[in-house]
Amino acid sequence: MMFCDAVRLLRAIRPMEEYRYVGLGHWQFVDFELMRREVGVRSMVSIEIDTARKARYEENKPFAEIDLLFGDAFEKLQEIDLHVPTIAWLDYLSKLNSTGLRDLKLLTAELPPGSVVAATFNCRPDREDQRLDTLIRAVGSDVVPGDVREDALDIVGLPRIQRRILVEQLDAVASARTPAARLQQFMFLRYVDRAPMMFWASLIVDETVEEQAGSVPLSRLEQFRDGEDFLEVSVPWLTTREVISLNEQIRGGHVPSVRGLERDDCKAYANLHRWYPIVPLPF
Ligand SMILES: C[S@@+](CC[C@H](N)C(=O)[O-])C[C@H]1O[C@@H](n2cnc3c(N)ncnc32)[C@H](O)[C@@H]1O
Repeated sequence: MMFCDAVRLLRAIRPMEEYRYVGLGHWQFVDFELMRREVGVRSMVSIEIDTARKARYEENKPFAEIDLLFGDAFEKLQEIDLHVPTIAWLDYLSKLNSTGLRDLKLLTAELPPGSVVAATFNCRPDREDQRLDTLIRAVGSDVVPGDVREDALDIVGLPRIQRRILVEQLDAVASARTPAARLQQFMFLRYVDRAPMMFWASLIVDETVEEQAGSVPLSRLEQFRDGEDFLEVSVPWLTTREVISLNEQIRGGHVPSVRGLERDDCKAYANLHRWYPIVPLPF
């Protein structure tokens, strides 16, 4: 929802119907549903590496316009026309690794300016004495900045270092384009979805879209983050009854609390409730 809210602003660059969405939809296609319904993107490509259950993916496709490609992202990205303005979100479950970097470098090198490159990565720290070795094994020793130390790869440090590597690697690709481009980061957040995850998104900008990109008010968004400090999104697990009770108190202008719920969960809900699904849904 936060990402959709941000990319909707790109209509200052071109109509949303001219954008294509490229993602890893799984069989849930949650991101595809949102991109279609909330943002208005029509043309869509979902890539899926799991070829053992093709029928299930096909069966759950919510829109006819989704082109579902089976295979590895890097291979399939080279088969589609990368010169179409695109919002690409590679929603990995793994940590940052050389295959993810390779996919994102390809997108950064090829997509037209005004396109978005976004990714999700796991950011759970590894065993304390193995953190640096694991990172080096995942992305390559030439890619890990020389000043990264084992103790910097903790719960706060790992998302930051993964972002730093991503930014350094993709910036180099962007600046090698003709004309030279840059990545304008507009989101960096951390949340927990079984494991701690990080989400990062940037706009590809070059001189041909510089002026229009400057008129996209991304920096006014509450979820905007353009540096190494991530937005912490804490999503409490709540029942429908609890949400109704919390909403009732928020409506009355009170700091919400519910018997049996942790104060932190109530606070997290109060901070987040503008993004939460409407409970109960209107008929
Ligand atoms: C976290 S799920 C995506 C969830 C989906 N975006 C949603 O919001 O409902 C990641 C999906 O990408 C697939 N995947 C992971 N790595 C891939 C790769 N390198 N190439 C193609 N598909 C990949 C996985 O099999 C999985 O179905």
